[in-house]
Amino acid sequence: MRVVEVTRFGGPEVLVTNQVPEPEAGPGQVVVRVAAADVLFVETQIRAGGFGEYFDVRPPYVPGGGVAGRVDAVGDGVDPGWLGKTVLTSTGGGGGYAERVVVGADGLVEVPAGVGAREAAALLHDGPTALELFEGNRVRAGEQVLIVGATGGAGILLVQLAHAAGARVVAAARGERKLALATELGADVVVDYSVPGWTDRVLEATGGTGPDLVLDGVGGEFGRAAFEVTPRGGRFSAHGAPTGGFAAIDPAEAAERGIGLRGIADLRFPPERARELAARALAEVAAGRIRPVIGQTFPLDRAADAHAAIEARQVIGKTLLLV
Ligand SMILES: NC(=O)c1ccc[n+]([C@@H]2O[C@H](COP(=O)([O-])OP(=O)(O)OC[C@H]3O[C@@H](n4cnc5c(N)ncnc54)[C@H](OP(=O)(O)O)[C@@H]3O)[C@@H](O)[C@H]2O)c1
Repeated sequence: MRVVEVTRFGGPEVLVTNQVPEPEAGPGQVVVRVAAADVLFVETQIRAGGFGEYFDVRPPYVPGGGVAGRVDAVGDGVDPGWLGKTVLTSTGGGGGYAERVVVGADGLVEVPAGVGAREAAALLHDGPTALELFEGNRVRAGEQVLIVGATGGAGILLVQLAHAAGARVVAAARGERKLALATELGADVVVDYSVPGWTDRVLEATGGTGPDLVLDGVGGEFGRAAFEVTPRGGRFSAHGAPTGGFAAIDPAEAAERGIGLRGIADLRFPPERARELAARALAEVAAGRIRPVIGQTFPLDRAADAHAAIEARQVIGKTLLLV
């Protein structure tokens, strides 16, 4: 079967398709025939050799933290009722850029009727992330919520969740196409953060007070600028780092300003919690309450193009590999 490997740390060109032996399900495991593999921004950063302090990976390795597809084979001790079902599963940190994966049956989440494998794959990481951010930061009706990076995979779900909860959503993203999407998904105000002075517009949009809550999925100077307009008593989640680093916020400074600060550490959850949240995200989609936006797909063999597009900021919403 085909897999895409990172042959060494470097640019997108280090992603190379290779043939490897067909995997077999051991006791308690299943083989999933992959329909769609999730591609995360952080996977481009790890491929480039970044974030070694968080992720212990060395080339050669097959990236890809999760897939959706059909159960093709079950190992000893696994309920044969799983055969043929469409499922969503984490791959335990890698191995998802492949035609088939072997995973533990206890990690499977069944995809409900009415939700496609692509939508499911789009929710594997972004669904739990968005739900945890939404609940952990206690988004409430009537408050003003600034979402920075509002049209990334998780940002798109957050806009919808906050809007549905009755919050006033200020969505920050770059360029007209992304701002139009944020509006369509329920943002009350959109702000282009590629325009200098964008936080002045955030202040105007929030009646001069600044947002009650900032959900920062971008980090760097954008996150820092958003922190500057967060008022005393506000809350700030510095969980995003596609700029290369999380927003530089000293917890002591946040405490002094009376701002509740959360970060990436608050987004780590055990596998069973991730499964529960993924199942809830699937149910929300099945019920029509939220929808992922799959902006672009690439065939497995073109994983390098997918990474290049993400790095060039040409993508909108979720990027998937199709097998
Ligand atoms: N998704 C998850 O499950 C998860 C889990 C834990 C942490 N996070 C963190 O949360 C962030 C947001 O998640 P997401 O899924 O919404 O991310 P995403 O789909 O990768 O979107 C990130 C957004 O960041 C913006 N951006 C700003 N500066 C950028 C730069 N220099 N290069 C590339 N993009 C840049 C891009 O929008 P513009 O072009 O409009 O600026 C892009 O839409 C992640 O990148 C990660 O740091 C995510």
